[in-house]
Amino acid sequence: MRKNKQVLVGITGGIAAYKSPDLVRRLMDRGADVRVVMTESACEFITPLTLQAVSGHPVHQHLLDAEAESGMGHIELARWAEMIVIAPSTANFIAKMATGKADDLLTTLILASKAEIVVAPAMNRQMWQNPTTQENLETLIERGVRIIGPAEGGQACGEIGLGRMTEPDEIAQELLGDGIPKSLTGVRVVLTAGPTWEAIDPVRGITNRSSGKMGFALAEAASDFGAEIILISGPVSLETPQGVERINVVSSQDMFTAVHEHITNADIFIGVAAVSDYRPVMISEQKIKKVEDSMELKLVRNPDILRSVAELEDPPFTVGFAAETECIDENARIKLTNKRIDMIVANNVAGEEGAFDNDCNQITVHTENQSIPIERKSKYQLSVELLEIIVSLWEHNNP
Ligand code: C5P
Repeated sequence: MRKNKQVLVGITGGIAAYKSPDLVRRLMDRGADVRVVMTESACEFITPLTLQAVSGHPVHQHLLDAEAESGMGHIELARWAEMIVIAPSTANFIAKMATGKADDLLTTLILASKAEIVVAPAMNRQMWQNPTTQENLETLIERGVRIIGPAEGGQACGEIGLGRMTEPDEIAQELLGDGIPKSLTGVRVVLTAGPTWEAIDPVRGITNRSSGKMGFALAEAASDFGAEIILISGPVSLETPQGVERINVVSSQDMFTAVHEHITNADIFIGVAAVSDYRPVMISEQKIKKVEDSMELKLVRNPDILRSVAELEDPPFTVGFAAETECIDENARIKLTNKRIDMIVANNVAGEEGAFDNDCNQITVHTENQSIPIERKSKYQLSVELLEIIVSLWEHNNP
């Protein structure tokens, strides 16, 4: 369904280059075939090896590289690219582009290519505001170059203002989001993600292992499908995907309350969060001192959020996740029946290949009548396939 767009990512020498591998990954997640070109100064900030590992192809660095010319030379690379994205693009690089310089591989490629050119600037806010930079940008815009960003906020130099590189997720969505059918336009999705934290005292607590990556990838993909998303997240340090409304919660009870505050108008509920099944009966106001050799902690069961949503009088389409370490599909199917939900996604969390902290996973989607395995791939790509299944069932239920 998605076109394999041939995208050349050009990286120039700015601190925001640390975001470039993430951009490459997110473009690939959206089905792009990516090659990377780095300027000499970009290599001061990040290594070509990192980009080679992420893109799966050698990184091009030099204009006159005998080895590269015998493989994919600079003219072939210029012809190969359907889109050239310079991210980050420094003020110096923008100036070079505006004056038509061709003194390294990237500037030469840009001059030699008919591809669509996209620039994601990143620089100190004064450099951005400087009339010379703005004039150079005007020149590029007049020539048809697309500019994404920069964003506003804290800068590496300690200043605050316009100049941050736009987040990779936002760039990828803007460039390749069109390849995804907007089949969830107007559909309201509530999603839970991450772990919950059940406090024992001000410094200790009970939690479940969950990076939040699967839930955030699903929110990102659902946003690409055009859905209106409320992402209710436990404590994780992940960027909020573009176009997603995020509500941060800590405990399972907070998550329960937030879900029920927003579920009334929801069409689809997806419970990806690893919710603590129990919480301490008492939360100590002060840090508990370690005076005893042993201690007992009395726990009480938390409500099952997913089940409570499925039990609503007019429930949304409900999807659960089953993180299992053995008899994965059998256990998942039992949960599908017991929780009376429409769909459960079984995933293996045992071993190094397991779901925890990984960017990739392998899942099986179970409904009452079907079991659909999806082979190992990135959590974003899994999300796209999972959403396609949800859309087909959703459309079937809501003709
Ligand atoms: O029963 P189990 O915890 O294995 O089920 C996992 C599914 O149930 C996940 O979708 C999880 O988000 C959801 N769940 C919940 N509330 C709980 C426990 C699990 O919503 N208290």
